[in-house]
Amino acid sequence: MPVYVVTGANRGLGLEFVRQLSQSTDNTVLACVRSSSSDLADLKQAYKPNESNTHVLHCNTGDLSSIQSFAKEVQKTLGGDRKIEFLINNAAVNSKPEQTSLSIGPDDLTNEIRINVLGPAKTTEFLLAEGVLAKTARIVNLSSGLGSMAVSLGIMPRKCATYSISKGALNSLTVQQSGELREEGKLGPKCVVISIDPGWVKTRMGGEGAILEPKESIGGMLKAIHGLGEGDNGKFYTYTVSRSAVELKSSVFFSLLDLADADPDKAMSDDLPHPLTEPVKDGMPARPTPALDRDGHPTTALAHTAFLEPIERACRT
Ligand SMILES: NC(=O)c1ccc[n+]([C@@H]2O[C@H](COP(=O)([O-])OP(=O)(O)OC[C@H]3O[C@@H](n4cnc5c(N)ncnc54)[C@H](OP(=O)(O)O)[C@@H]3O)[C@@H](O)[C@H]2O)c1
Repeated sequence: MPVYVVTGANRGLGLEFVRQLSQSTDNTVLACVRSSSSDLADLKQAYKPNESNTHVLHCNTGDLSSIQSFAKEVQKTLGGDRKIEFLINNAAVNSKPEQTSLSIGPDDLTNEIRINVLGPAKTTEFLLAEGVLAKTARIVNLSSGLGSMAVSLGIMPRKCATYSISKGALNSLTVQQSGELREEGKLGPKCVVISIDPGWVKTRMGGEGAILEPKESIGGMLKAIHGLGEGDNGKFYTYTVSRSAVELKSSVFFSLLDLADADPDKAMSDDLPHPLTEPVKDGMPARPTPALDRDGHPTTALAHTAFLEPIERACRT
């Protein structure tokens, strides 16, 4: 009976995580919501097939005392013996997509860092302190293409500065956690921490113009998450679209990519739209292609890929 924790579970991708995880009565799901008073009708409907193994817990990931109480509640709910195998730090905001690097609202950036970075950091820290994370835990930080330096470099005009900065910081957090949680006395060498970009998905954040249905994105992510091995620790996975299927492939953090020569036409010419080259819709940015060939390997157009790791295992929906 694996135990999953999903933050931001009342709508969007968090809700779809719960819906798909509830298809198996083997799963125990701790579905976390910002406010227990908000409308939870969709969530209740989503976990109906596995009602007896689902627990709705209150966790405002922008509030340290709320996360602290939540971690204690998890300990009580699991009763000491059972541990969390999958922690999905999904809750986030993109509240000021119109802001650019020259118009950042200090309070807005602080708010996004608080929810999008400190939230996953403290959720992980406090759950660790309560002793409820399994030694083999998979900790999944929901990032964004906008958290990638390489992708952001190719977006003109630049978009969603505050959100992008917060997701870049989240990726850095993943790298930090992936090292520290492996230390003796913490989780040890078998835990895995990753960042993952769900693709451009039709949710309130993604908007109606997005290209993926939540079902596709979550189906692919769950496959990838379930297939994670110890060697995946610290990596950043992103959705790509291949010839006939949506795949998840790994990318890297903070690589010095010079996309100036990248020719999107030389990249995968697919019958499906490519999320990295879609035009701006509903405030979400176009995502530049990192110029991959049909097998997902970087082409020579990426001239300065000093730190680019090989593209890894794909996961088809
Ligand atoms: N959709 C996309 O295209 C896309 C693309 C790249 C990355 N992402 C990432 O994927 C994740 C899910 O996004 P989404 O599209 O599902 O967004 P969404 O539709 O806006 O849903 C966001 C969820 O996060 C919750 N949340 C926000 N602030 C919270 C807080 N302080 N405490 C607890 N919960 C909070 C919301 O709860 P309330 O209802 O209470 O506000 C909601 O459940 C996010 O990390 C996002 O950055 C999404």
